[in-house]
Amino acid sequence: MKAPIGCAVIGYGPLHNFGWAHSAWIEATPELSLLAVCDLDPARTAAAKEAFPHIRTYNDVAEVWADGEVELVSIVTPHFTHCPLAVQAFAAGKHVVVEKAMCLSVAEATQMIEAGKRARRTLAVHHNRRHDGNFRRIREIVGSGAIGEVFEIELYAGGYGPFRHGWYSEKAKSGGAFYFWGPHAVDWVLALIPERIVGVNGYFHNRVWHEITNEDQVRATIRFANGCAADVTWSHIAAIGKPLWRILGTKGGILDTGANAIPGYEKGIRGPVGGSLTLVTYEGGERKEEQVPYLESDWDTYWQGVADHLLRGGPVPVSGEAGRRTIGVFEAAERSSQTGQTEQVPYE
Ligand SMILES: NC(=O)c1ccc[n+]([C@@H]2O[C@H](COP(=O)([O-])OP(=O)(O)OC[C@H]3O[C@@H](n4cnc5c(N)ncnc54)[C@H](O)[C@@H]3O)[C@@H](O)[C@H]2O)c1
Repeated sequence: MKAPIGCAVIGYGPLHNFGWAHSAWIEATPELSLLAVCDLDPARTAAAKEAFPHIRTYNDVAEVWADGEVELVSIVTPHFTHCPLAVQAFAAGKHVVVEKAMCLSVAEATQMIEAGKRARRTLAVHHNRRHDGNFRRIREIVGSGAIGEVFEIELYAGGYGPFRHGWYSEKAKSGGAFYFWGPHAVDWVLALIPERIVGVNGYFHNRVWHEITNEDQVRATIRFANGCAADVTWSHIAAIGKPLWRILGTKGGILDTGANAIPGYEKGIRGPVGGSLTLVTYEGGERKEEQVPYLESDWDTYWQGVADHLLRGGPVPVSGEAGRRTIGVFEAAERSSQTGQTEQVPYE
């Protein structure tokens, strides 16, 4: 394979401008070249052509599969389409970057992983928010040992009100409430605690917004082999909120309200800007509390990672197996919510 690598974006949607973002990231990566955009909706491909006049556009993925110059596709469509589109792309000899949520089940994830292996093509899951400035700082602090061994994590987002957000609100198409922000959150936790998952407990609620098929609130408690427990909650019925991150280690802790990042990052390609977190450490019995600024977000480096992998054999930025773990946590949490038992995540 040689540069530039011909790329196509499948899905150029209006909800988060994310087909545009994928196109802009590819254009901003010197060794990748945006050749085409595909969307079922001609109005969306017209918008893509306006933003990127040099591209060709398609309204049927079969035309992308037949386009011999396209070597890599980025799938930016609703969750229920990710597995079938990825399997078709591999059968057409394309490499695949697929958006979060990777797919709707562990079985689908395995299908995608195996299709990629059969075709000797790369599968990468787009967990760009590993490159958020706050998470980069948290990872740096935890990695430095400044707060000792992490034994407890709480991660929360949400509010009170019906989540009316097109297909995202339909469980059959989205996967459920955990599949919107949850893939970022669980992927952060699994990246931060490189330990085997020994069990998951889940608590799902459908109590208020009955006209919406997604759950009102979802919560998973992930237990790791080293005894660390991570609690991840997403809610539409939380009248009282919690900080974004609360992390406890044997020598200190981190509190990140997440409240002071500057909004509007979806219009750029670097990610969230600004903000700081609270770091508490104990040294010789002395308590020290300080405000630590976030690192810079660098979402676009994910794509340089894709080019490095395809051209120079670097690591896959986020592998299908890593993506499958996150889906495995959602599935185990939902099962646990029904059985009342601790459930296992496959392939651990
Ligand atoms: N990583 C992030 O930070 C982030 C942020 C926003 C969205 N996303 C992800 O991006 C994906 C798309 O979400 P969105 O908000 O852009 O949704 P959207 O509804 O705005 O866009 C989806 C587009 O896909 C098109 N589409 C559907 N099926 C298709 C098919 N078979 N062939 C071609 N086009 C098809 C639709 O016409 C629509 O224009 C989801 O996986 C979502 O979770 C990720």
